[in-house]
Amino acid sequence: MRLSLAGSWTTQLDSDLMGVLPKANENCWCGSNKKFKRCHKSKKTVSPGHITPQRSVPDTITKPTWADGGTVERWDEPQVKSPEIIERMRLTAVEAADTLAYLGSLCKPGVTTEEIDVACHTMAIEKESYPSPLNYPGALDPFPKSVCTSVNEVICHGIPDDRELEDGDIINIDVTLFKRGVHGDTNATFFVGDVDELSKELTIVTRDCLRYGIDAAKPGQPINAIGRAIQNHAEAKGFGVVRDFVGHGIGEQFHTDLQICHYYHPGLTDIIEPGMTFTIEPMITTGSWRADMWNDGWTATTADCSRTAQFEHTLLIEDDGAVILTEPTDTSTHPYWAL
Ligand code: MF3
Ligand code: CO
Ligand code: CO
Repeated sequence: MRLSLAGSWTTQLDSDLMGVLPKANENCWCGSNKKFKRCHKSKKTVSPGHITPQRSVPDTITKPTWADGGTVERWDEPQVKSPEIIERMRLTAVEAADTLAYLGSLCKPGVTTEEIDVACHTMAIEKESYPSPLNYPGALDPFPKSVCTSVNEVICHGIPDDRELEDGDIINIDVTLFKRGVHGDTNATFFVGDVDELSKELTIVTRDCLRYGIDAAKPGQPINAIGRAIQNHAEAKGFGVVRDFVGHGIGEQFHTDLQICHYYHPGLTDIIEPGMTFTIEPMITTGSWRADMWNDGWTATTADCSRTAQFEHTLLIEDDGAVILTEPTDTSTHPYWAL
């Protein structure tokens, strides 16, 4: 979700100046002494496509408040969940993960992101769940589809449309289901056909960033230990960490006010406690961490059009560390799943 921490840009992280966008003929930010246009600037590969009308969800399915033109109801949800809520979250999270694994298997050249959306919508309804992104309010229009599909330089919140996947693309699919009164939120990046080595490395490093973030999410540690671990790994590999979008508390609400930055933020000193549930969902780039937004108010891309990957899990903090709730039933269904 979008970062809304007060003062978050004033922390002057060491790497804040990295990734600031130069003009095409100026030196690249990376220190190569090459012109930006000959170094980290890439070409746009995705543009706005045709979006079909919104699909309906049967009335037999319990819907969140935004489903029928409403708004997001917000309340002070405890960060530490009751055992009863945790039990419901476990079940819903696995169903979201199974849906994601199935959608990943569809990512072949020629398949449109619209087809992936139809599959997600159908599968959600089969599972008697509501696809949480559908009609979720945003800065402009509500999100019109049931899943986010983000291709190549799209960081997150890509809207499924008529673009056909091409050999060499990477695509992130972000599934959230609402069932039993709780949300389960998970995403992964998939390869379409034969992908270049840099995109493979980016995807693997991003998966590892999530793993390091999860390992750092131990009770007694501050929340910012998570971002520190992620940023250390990504920047050691020469990659950028997106700042504008963060992980979040989750439960009966899709996004609670708990924010999980994927970079080191000195202000995030709340202590991680057993019973907390939140997502970690690092977005890593091969270039600058700067983001741009399309006019649709949703699609976020890297400002330099460098490629970007993401992985997300919904987690439960237990006494000895974080447990992944969004583990699919069959862990072999995705090549990078065995986290
Ligand atoms: N699932 C996304 C997240 O990880 C949020 C999507 S909001 C939507 O937080 F409206 F775009 F679906
Ligand atoms: Co999320
Ligand atoms: Co998500």
